[in-house]
Amino acid sequence: QEHNERESLYIVLNFAKEHFLGNLTTEEGKSIGLSYFRERGFNQRIIEKFDLGYALDSWDTLLENARKSGFNEEILLKAGLILQKESDPSRHYDRFRGRVIFPIHNLSGKAIAFGARILTQDKKQPKYINSPETAVYHKSDVLYGIFQAKQAIKQEKNCYLVEGYTDVISMHLSGIENVVASSGTSLTESQIKLIKRFADQVTVLYDGDAAGIQASLRGIDMLLEGGLNVKAVVFPDGEDPDSFARKSGSEAFQKYLKENARDFIHFKISLFGNETAHDPVKKADAIRQIVQSIAKIPDPLIRSVYAKESARLLEMEEETIHTELNKILIQDA
Ligand code: UTP
Ligand code: MN
Ligand code: MN
Ligand code: MN
Ligand code: MN
Repeated sequence: QEHNERESLYIVLNFAKEHFLGNLTTEEGKSIGLSYFRERGFNQRIIEKFDLGYALDSWDTLLENARKSGFNEEILLKAGLILQKESDPSRHYDRFRGRVIFPIHNLSGKAIAFGARILTQDKKQPKYINSPETAVYHKSDVLYGIFQAKQAIKQEKNCYLVEGYTDVISMHLSGIENVVASSGTSLTESQIKLIKRFADQVTVLYDGDAAGIQASLRGIDMLLEGGLNVKAVVFPDGEDPDSFARKSGSEAFQKYLKENARDFIHFKISLFGNETAHDPVKKADAIRQIVQSIAKIPDPLIRSVYAKESARLLEMEEETIHTELNKILIQDA
């Protein structure tokens, strides 16, 4: 039964994906959905590559269309595509309405969930609505874009990690295909395992705002703990990979990534600012925070190389770094 239900979910989710795709060819879909994508610089090729679609601004177009094709409410509910009316739970309506649709694919390219973006800046509604957890969608196991990226990640021996759906798509438009998104939540162990199937290096490209930098720091420690080599790129304040790629153009964007990818130690040091070197208290704090990250690295040899490197960068005795490192390692043992 379990097996059958998963199969049924894949079928109804694929039906929904086709429905949202088809909506882009309707009058409403063209004038609202397609023109939204065009404004963002998404061409036909990229729309097809990511199976982007549109949910009509109506209560039950998907529900009605699915019924006609023989799907019942039960499976649509289990797929997270419809909701029950609060006033009358025997009645249902579409979850995604009047939004552009970003299908989320699993490793083999099957649609397992959807992200849906609002078209206007309505502060009363969330910018994105996403599918709930279902039998085939466990948010914490999934990385957006992995299906379209896996080949390139292997080839490049590096995986770019971004926050959002549109960052992934814009980077493909800029000619960079080895990119996945954590979709705005903190990275999980199973997402890290997924990346490790294809590469042992991750370059973190989070948004250039306070939240993005905080998330980078958490992500970096988790990736180090997972045994990955970690780099990071900082974007100017208020920019994310999508906005920055569009502003810069493909060539300048690729160049920016190459020139600004920093080892996690350099990344952390750069966050402390220039005054760190002349302020003993700040410097001690910087050392402690960098040593915290180094302590996460499982391989003792790599740990020791980083200890040496950070001693050099921070102009400290290697001895001191090792003492601090050992304190943490013994505590955690
Ligand atoms: P951002 O707020 O940075 O959005 O959230 P974005 O990806 O840059 O989107 P645009 O450019 O404004 O269209 C990053 C990611 O966090 C998740 C989404 O996956 C989004 O891509 N998110 C964000 C949500 O799930 N819900 C939200 O309301 C906001
Ligand atoms: Mn699970
Ligand atoms: Mn953000
Ligand atoms: Mn963003
Ligand atoms: Mn953005």
